[in-house]
Amino acid sequence: MACYFRRAIASQLSKILGPAEENFLPLILAIPVSKKHHSPDFRLSVSSLVENGWIQPDRSVQAQTELLAKQLKCDSLLDEIHLNQGGIHFKFNRKLLAERVLQQVLKDGPYFGVKSQLFSLCKMKKVVVEFSSPNIAKKFHAGHLRSTIIGNFIANLKGALGHSVTRINYLGDWGLQFGLLGIGFQEFGSEEKLKSNPLQHLFDVYVQVNKTAEKDENIKKSAQEFFRRLETGDVQALSLWQHFRKISIEEYERIYKRLGIHFEEYSGESLYQKSSQTVLDQLEKQGLLKKTKEGVGVVDLSVARDMTSCATLVRSNGTSLYLTRDLAAAIDRMDRFNFDEMIYVTDKGQQNHFTQMFQILKAMGHTWAEHLYHVPFGIVQGMKTRKGDVVFLEDVLDEARSRMLQNMSISKTTKNLDDPEETAEDVGTSAIIIQDFKGPLLSDYKFEWDRILQSQGDTGVFLQYTHARLCSLQEMNNSSSECSFNPECLQDPAAIAILQHLLRYDEVLFQSSKNLQPRHLVNFLLMLCRLAAVAHKTLPVKNSPQELAQARLQLFKGTCTVLANGMRLLGIKPVIKM
Ligand code: ARG
Repeated sequence: MACYFRRAIASQLSKILGPAEENFLPLILAIPVSKKHHSPDFRLSVSSLVENGWIQPDRSVQAQTELLAKQLKCDSLLDEIHLNQGGIHFKFNRKLLAERVLQQVLKDGPYFGVKSQLFSLCKMKKVVVEFSSPNIAKKFHAGHLRSTIIGNFIANLKGALGHSVTRINYLGDWGLQFGLLGIGFQEFGSEEKLKSNPLQHLFDVYVQVNKTAEKDENIKKSAQEFFRRLETGDVQALSLWQHFRKISIEEYERIYKRLGIHFEEYSGESLYQKSSQTVLDQLEKQGLLKKTKEGVGVVDLSVARDMTSCATLVRSNGTSLYLTRDLAAAIDRMDRFNFDEMIYVTDKGQQNHFTQMFQILKAMGHTWAEHLYHVPFGIVQGMKTRKGDVVFLEDVLDEARSRMLQNMSISKTTKNLDDPEETAEDVGTSAIIIQDFKGPLLSDYKFEWDRILQSQGDTGVFLQYTHARLCSLQEMNNSSSECSFNPECLQDPAAIAILQHLLRYDEVLFQSSKNLQPRHLVNFLLMLCRLAAVAHKTLPVKNSPQELAQARLQLFKGTCTVLANGMRLLGIKPVIKM
């Protein structure tokens, strides 16, 4: 829809400058809404014209731009064209703006924005997104929570834009911790507790046996022995491990469901024990694997090939490492999914790991490693629950729910709800998500429950509150399925501001899909809510003449649709009442 307007400009540009219309579409950007009444809608920057070679980068840039602005003509669509510092500004016919934008939102519903012509320039791809990836029997810490929600957003966005997405959870399901667990379970384990609260119980056993092992060499030895049995395929040891793994996955699935998250595949390090040997053989054959004096197998990654920067792939006792298994996993996924791109989401502490991994794959001749991406994120400080440090994902969700429930119980505006717990959970988790997505992913941030749960300001609660309010407006006014409206009734500044803002939606999605940062979408939605609040005050539906009321109602309906669409992409379930 925004492209309907962009095209009107692009077709003129194409005639004047030569290249096809499509080339200009991504350069014609909707202008962020300002307080000025007569603000224009789109902008074409001089720098983008220069960058693309349509204006020569010499001293006459200004003169060339002036000439171009003169050659562009107003018509029945375009009301004004202005030369402005840094670019050319365009303002469209107001009636047409209201009519086109709102009609498109009402018609496209959940597909609004994602079908934009901006995306027709991109090829549809097979995308693998690997995220969450906790370690069985260990803490599910804030980093895993970030990976979970960020990965889900990326997968949602790619999926909405029409790419085919495979979501993989790569569990830490191998290693000495299972030797310890195996021994520990014999000592401190209980089948009953394992059934009733598997993650907690495995974690408790693990903590306990670790403590004992610190003091008792024998326990350490037995754990190593148990792990060796696992590695050599001992049936009994394997069946206990399998049991722990299966029961943990069932539990993870249940909890992810509370967030509306699913995975196509639960994979894990355990699956790549054998194939990491194949990778090592291959590296050996290619002459890439070197043995150090200590008997460690390394790959030289230094530019000068002087071993100043190496990645270790085999321990001196012949066992493989995290990195080795990751190489095998990537190759296996290429074989099975033939993906066009694969995205890994982890904290920034693993940046070096992924750089090395991608480098080694390229050195092995896997050209597709060009299309592997690591999305790193910063550290969350101080995420605590009433129980203390975060140990499980479920604790965070429970805490968000109970705190939100408490806030709702003292708020005067809380409605009578069928299921207050469910509402509190959806609102509480949206608060976590918005706090997390507001800034650049790479930034660290401090987590504070009170701040993220505020109902005003840049919070998830504010988004939910606005959504619920827009829903109730529809309900109260018996909004019919009749979508027609008179665009002349939507000329107040508050209405125009919303419509202009909606012009940016596809651009924002485009930007987020390019740099995989959710903040563009979050900021867009927060702004939409602020504009909706102003419109709510200044554009009453009740007691307005019927034609006016109907048009305003449609405007609010469209706003509500785009808000809900955006929230869902972020992984938030919009509530209709709160
Ligand atoms: N389980 C790992 C951890 O908790 C994260 C796995 C990330 N994915 C990968 N392919 N290495 O740190």
